[in-house]
Amino acid sequence: MNAKQIRDLYPITKDRAYLFSGGLAPVSVRHEKAMKKHMDWLSEDPDDMYVNGLDADGSDCRRMFAQLTGCDEDEVAIVESTSSGCNIAFDLIDPVAGGNVVFDDFSYPSSVFPWHLPPHEGLTKRFVHAREDGIIHLEDFEQSIDENTVAVCISHVTPIEGFKQDIKKVAEIAHAKGALVIVDGAQSAGAMEIDLHDTGVDFFSTTAMKWLLGAAGVAFLYVAKRHHSKKPTRAGYASTHSFDIHDFRLKDNAQRFELGMPNLLGLAFTKPGLEILVETDMSVVEQHNLELSGYAIAGMKELGIDVTTHDDPNYRLGVISARHEAAAELWNHLHNNKVDTYYHGETFRVDPHIFNNRDDIDMLLKGIDSFIQ
Ligand SMILES: Cc1ncc(COP(=O)(O)O)c(C=O)c1O
Repeated sequence: MNAKQIRDLYPITKDRAYLFSGGLAPVSVRHEKAMKKHMDWLSEDPDDMYVNGLDADGSDCRRMFAQLTGCDEDEVAIVESTSSGCNIAFDLIDPVAGGNVVFDDFSYPSSVFPWHLPPHEGLTKRFVHAREDGIIHLEDFEQSIDENTVAVCISHVTPIEGFKQDIKKVAEIAHAKGALVIVDGAQSAGAMEIDLHDTGVDFFSTTAMKWLLGAAGVAFLYVAKRHHSKKPTRAGYASTHSFDIHDFRLKDNAQRFELGMPNLLGLAFTKPGLEILVETDMSVVEQHNLELSGYAIAGMKELGIDVTTHDDPNYRLGVISARHEAAAELWNHLHNNKVDTYYHGETFRVDPHIFNNRDDIDMLLKGIDSFIQ
């Protein structure tokens, strides 16, 4: 599918410029159909949905996520949030005495907070700082990671700065010192080409509700095959080979990190979103998003907006951030003019995706201009 065909699937594009894919995916006609089917199913025959619906939607989503991110199905656990997936990965890391864990200035709270809890609270926390140019430089990772580093926990693309990190290079640096790499991919998966095997990262966790065009309450945790023998700290019937309480054998794949019933309606909503991306070349999605974000950055700068996200496509993707002291008012003005964006404090954010086009960005720029006037 091409961008125009995808746009046609999304009713919201007829009325609004929806530029909030870094937050929540909107509904396409395929999603509407899938949800109707599942609501009817739950209404008329929940028993059949329980028996026949779960495996279909769970395994299809797992397969398509693997296809979209360059890994194998058996390396994917279906979990409930990015934060939950990151926490599962952290639990697998031994809290070595005298060890340290490395983050960067832009690491997401859910990648940092768990390290304040047992058994990891004794590890030293090191932060790699962004330089004046707004870049977290690889040389600075090199300086901070040493033989006592147990893990490096960073975001692939950061939600406040819109900064894209080269996770393959970070993994090379970390692995050379024996540290594992856990990546929060909430702002990258579904927005760009990703080959997890090629990146070499150990764990990668992402929600379905943003760029993957799926639902809140569904997320994917990639666990590289070499970690499949690691023991989870929790177990449920979904983790094991058998339902027999006298036969405890963990699955030999990433499903050992699943516990029980997944979010059935969430999976039903996620499947059509993943299908849309699978039917589209991810390199086309990435190029489209980079082109639109570049167009938006240039237009916003022309209007005097203090864009903080990098111009250089090597350091950005779909999230464009700007500093604005009246970000809330700007958001409100745009929202009233049918342009959906995001703000957090003084950060104003715009996230174009594959169903957006230049008309949406022009609507945004017109709205910003009228706000300034
Ligand atoms: C980089 C990043 N990580 C994690 C999250 C939160 O994801 P979840 O609610 O699935 O834990 C977000 C949400 O905005 C995000 O941008």
